[in-house]
Amino acid sequence: MFKITVYSVREVEIPLFDKLNKYNYELNLVSERLTMQNVAKAKGSDAVLVSGGDDTGKDVLEALNSYGIKLVFTRSVGVDKYDFAVADKLGIKVANVPNYSPRAVAELAFILGMTLFRHVAPATYNTHMGDFRILPEYFANEIHNATVGIIGAGSIGTAEAKLYKALGAKVLAFQRHPDPANDAVEFVDMDTLLAKSDIISIHVPYIPGKTDNLVGAPELAKMKSSAILVNTARGPVVDNEAVAQAVRDFKIAGYGTDVLLDEQHVMDRQFDTLDDVPNQIDKDLMKNYPNVIVTPHMGFFTVPAVTDMISTSFENFESTIKTGKPVHPVER
Ligand code: COI
Repeated sequence: MFKITVYSVREVEIPLFDKLNKYNYELNLVSERLTMQNVAKAKGSDAVLVSGGDDTGKDVLEALNSYGIKLVFTRSVGVDKYDFAVADKLGIKVANVPNYSPRAVAELAFILGMTLFRHVAPATYNTHMGDFRILPEYFANEIHNATVGIIGAGSIGTAEAKLYKALGAKVLAFQRHPDPANDAVEFVDMDTLLAKSDIISIHVPYIPGKTDNLVGAPELAKMKSSAILVNTARGPVVDNEAVAQAVRDFKIAGYGTDVLLDEQHVMDRQFDTLDDVPNQIDKDLMKNYPNVIVTPHMGFFTVPAVTDMISTSFENFESTIKTGKPVHPVER
């Protein structure tokens, strides 16, 4: 029986792994994220399946290779944690799930945007502190009068665009290679998007060395002081220090994010206090609450998305077993 060790499996996902296991793989479900400390749990497996927060760097790939494992697939879209040079050298195949329910991340991005746009974060913070005044800073626009800018109009960005459009917002998008068939958005250049948008939402992949700090101080300076920035992609695509500063200086009105820097040290972990979070920049950013709101990288965590992640991963394995090639090999 083909054995797959699966890392980062949450309790609520186990029934889905069992239900979707139509090829009858032997599944070794491990709740912890993959690290050098627990890589040996994969010994004796034919393949490994990871998620977006797992360590698939040099040491881990070498250890897996030493156990004879040549298939290290991920059920995430993002593949930024892989050391591809090492994977290629060792002949390790990588596949991902490029298209699980795009509404999962899109809906969370939309909610983060709307929460800040309508000043719900500061208002609820204040009411829970006993302050029920209607403060001038809650005075808001309405979304049907607003402009939303989507940076990266792939499937998730387009799904979010449609949510906003359904509420009457004007939706602009910036994409290096715009898809002329995408009529959910109006493609514009980056400067136009930055200057005109009331909510800006980022949906670009993180490619280390290429998409770092795509939105940094120069871009923030071009945004409206009333604008909201939303990031459900990856922490490093935004200059987090510059964002914290821009929120503090009222250069932008708020930042909603599902992703932080150094996520491997925070993802799925519980700290006693915020001060125990290891990355100083993450800490500084979060101290700007309630105008900076952070969710714990849970955009993917919906029943449809996790169902797609698991079933597409199984199709990747089955295709590799039968043809030598996964359905979704990672191009590089
Ligand atoms: C991805 O699919 O790339 C994500 O960000 C979600 C992952 C952490 C499960």
